[in-house]
Amino acid sequence: MHLNLKAKGMIFTVGGIKGGTGKTTISTNLAVWLSKQGADILLVDADEQESASDFTAWRDETHKGELGYTLVQLTGGAVRRQIEQLRPKYDHIVIDTGGRDTASQRAALFVSDVYLLPFAPRSYEIWTLSKVLALLNEVQPGRLTPLKIYSFLNKADTRGQDNGEATEVLRENAELNYVDFSVVNRKAFATAASKGLSVFEAMPHDEKAVAELEALFHHITK
Ligand SMILES: Nc1ncnc2c1ncn2[C@@H]1O[C@H](COP(=O)(O)OP(=O)(O)OP(=O)(O)O)[C@@H](O)[C@H]1O
Ligand SMILES: [Mg+2]
Repeated sequence: MHLNLKAKGMIFTVGGIKGGTGKTTISTNLAVWLSKQGADILLVDADEQESASDFTAWRDETHKGELGYTLVQLTGGAVRRQIEQLRPKYDHIVIDTGGRDTASQRAALFVSDVYLLPFAPRSYEIWTLSKVLALLNEVQPGRLTPLKIYSFLNKADTRGQDNGEATEVLRENAELNYVDFSVVNRKAFATAASKGLSVFEAMPHDEKAVAELEALFHHITK
């Protein structure tokens, strides 16, 4: 499992055009999860809000310097240029972007292999789909190989109509490649982050949160 993962050398961008969908939560947990499998990971903070950097600074304090990954802040065109240079030095790279159609997110999409699109199951977020689709229409033709996309629900409801409506709209847009690996709205994510930890490390474990993220991460690294 390790070796396969390491051999692939993948670049993941976690993005979308909506704030608060869980991009930083997914990207920081993915960086830690990959590093726990023995991979050398670069986490790129490409959001000027610097949430991934704040998390990392806090993790550095609480974890006594044992981050498990390397963090770099990049913005704009430098995202593409620097990542092309840094790529050979790491097994995998995870890029956290802001929830806007920024030069940074565009640049990230040109160098990435995988685009992760978390959506929270609220209809107003689904309206941002057309913006994501427009961004993809612009980026895909400029690439040598198509960007691999996975959209999924984060902060999903454990019950109720909202998930159903959201997944229906996501499924209607085949290019977004909706995958049925939802991450439910669970306090464990914020609790872990407040300690500078991923949900894989925080104790006591929230087994459901761990299982949901693992299922998603196994799928996207296959
Ligand atoms: N599955 C989840 N369950 C419960 N809370 C979550 C979940 N995912 C993220 N959150 C919480 O939602 C808030 C926003 O998450 P996060 O900062 O990861 O979003 P973001 O998309 O990076 O936001 P921004 O657009 O501002 O960068 C945080 O308080 C985080 O702890
Ligand atoms: Mg963020």
